[in-house]
Amino acid sequence: MMENPRVLELGVQDLPDLMRLEQRCFSYHWSEEQYRLGLERGAFQVWGVHAHGSPVAYLAFSIVVGEMEILNLAVHPAFRRQGLAAKLMRSLMTFCREQKVEQGFLDVKRSNHPAIALYRRFGFEQYGVRKRYYPDTKEDALLFRCDFLGHTTPASKP
Ligand SMILES: CC(C)(COP(=O)(O)OP(=O)(O)OC[C@H]1O[C@@H](n2cnc3c(N)ncnc32)[C@H](O)[C@@H]1OP(=O)(O)O)[C@@H](O)C(=O)NCCC(=O)NCCS
Repeated sequence: MMENPRVLELGVQDLPDLMRLEQRCFSYHWSEEQYRLGLERGAFQVWGVHAHGSPVAYLAFSIVVGEMEILNLAVHPAFRRQGLAAKLMRSLMTFCREQKVEQGFLDVKRSNHPAIALYRRFGFEQYGVRKRYYPDTKEDALLFRCDFLGHTTPASKP
């Protein structure tokens, strides 16, 4: 169990570590080039939690005119169920409120029960389905939304 993990912003210099982590966590993943371009252009931000000098959890998101979108979130298998995703989500929710974001959006595979439980815990609610959305498994995407104007983050959990 990590003691008081810190959330840090990741940059282009972290890309090799980030790519290794992403490949470990997803069968279908973004290329290094997609990350590089997005980071260089400020299209999205990536936050991470490190252990032994490299990221073991990360969250990629964008904020455009009052709307936040979670693009990617993953935790290395050896570091799951230790509250790292919750830590990242809590930081993001605080940041969104500071930035006066009004709504947050994300999509998640229908079968991804851990992620769905996590998102629900942070106030996201399902508002739609995109059929056979994902290129790797052709699974449906469940579309989730969070209304920041009326929502408070759970404070009692790590
Ligand atoms: C989903 C994922 C990010 C969760 O990361 P994590 O650090 O293990 O999650 P946390 O320990 O912070 O758990 C926070 C909450 O998420 C939910 N959760 C996490 N893992 C869960 C599991 N295996 N089963 C059910 N609920 C789970 C629970 O509500 C949990 O709260 P609790 O511990 O009080 O019950 C991680 O399993 C992962 O990386 N999965 C593969 C990548 C992925 O699917 N990303 C999401 C793409 S949309």
